[in-house]
Amino acid sequence: MPDALGPALATAQEPPGGRRAPQGDRVAPPSEYALPPLPYAYDALEPHIDAQTMRIHHDKHHAGYVAGLNAALKKLAEIRSTGDYSNIQQLSRLLAFHAGGYFNHIVFWNNMAPENKGGGGRAQGALGHAIARDFGGVKKFREHFTAAATSVEGNGWGVLGYHPALRRLVVMTMMNQQDLVTTGLVPLLMCDVWEHAYYLKYQNRRADYINAWWNVVNWENVQERYDARCEARDSDGCMASARNM
Ligand SMILES: [Fe+2]
Repeated sequence: MPDALGPALATAQEPPGGRRAPQGDRVAPPSEYALPPLPYAYDALEPHIDAQTMRIHHDKHHAGYVAGLNAALKKLAEIRSTGDYSNIQQLSRLLAFHAGGYFNHIVFWNNMAPENKGGGGRAQGALGHAIARDFGGVKKFREHFTAAATSVEGNGWGVLGYHPALRRLVVMTMMNQQDLVTTGLVPLLMCDVWEHAYYLKYQNRRADYINAWWNVVNWENVQERYDARCEARDSDGCMASARNM
């Protein structure tokens, strides 16, 4: 085990109250995120995607999201230490935006390969069967994905994903880049803050409602959801493939 992980794992195994955290794939996050290199040369996707586009896209845009993610995490740590949450709305938005940009592009780069050197062709094996099952065939899937991605208003993404709850492949679109639901977020703990969830009792005092809600959070259920959903995803290879990117 790398020394760098020692303190973090020791903390995770001995939480307050003495209950041991389950073991598994928990790995301490890096203190700072780095821009991963492209898995091929800038001009490797020519003529379909030109080298200059790839260079700017990776070296400027993706790098900008990495810097933004690190800056947002650093600023959030600072405000936790000071207790001044006056900018929490903006920082939460920036964290989501840059985390989306960081992760989406890692998937994107690895989703591509030079033509005839891994690029092109069609899905095979279990994925091919799943596409046939869930979309009615490769041709229908391609038409569906193309139409969906083309229809995105403004900046965004087309996404093929495995939805753990539906246990099927789905095509979704994502405006901007921070809609984590479309990229496979597994919900563990959720609080409904629609007015219908609290208005009759708390009127406009949403913070009072949320403070009260903490008293009824079922943490055992949250833990069970974490263990079950992540293990299920591992069995589908989703998390394993994400770790390997
Ligand atoms: Fe991009």
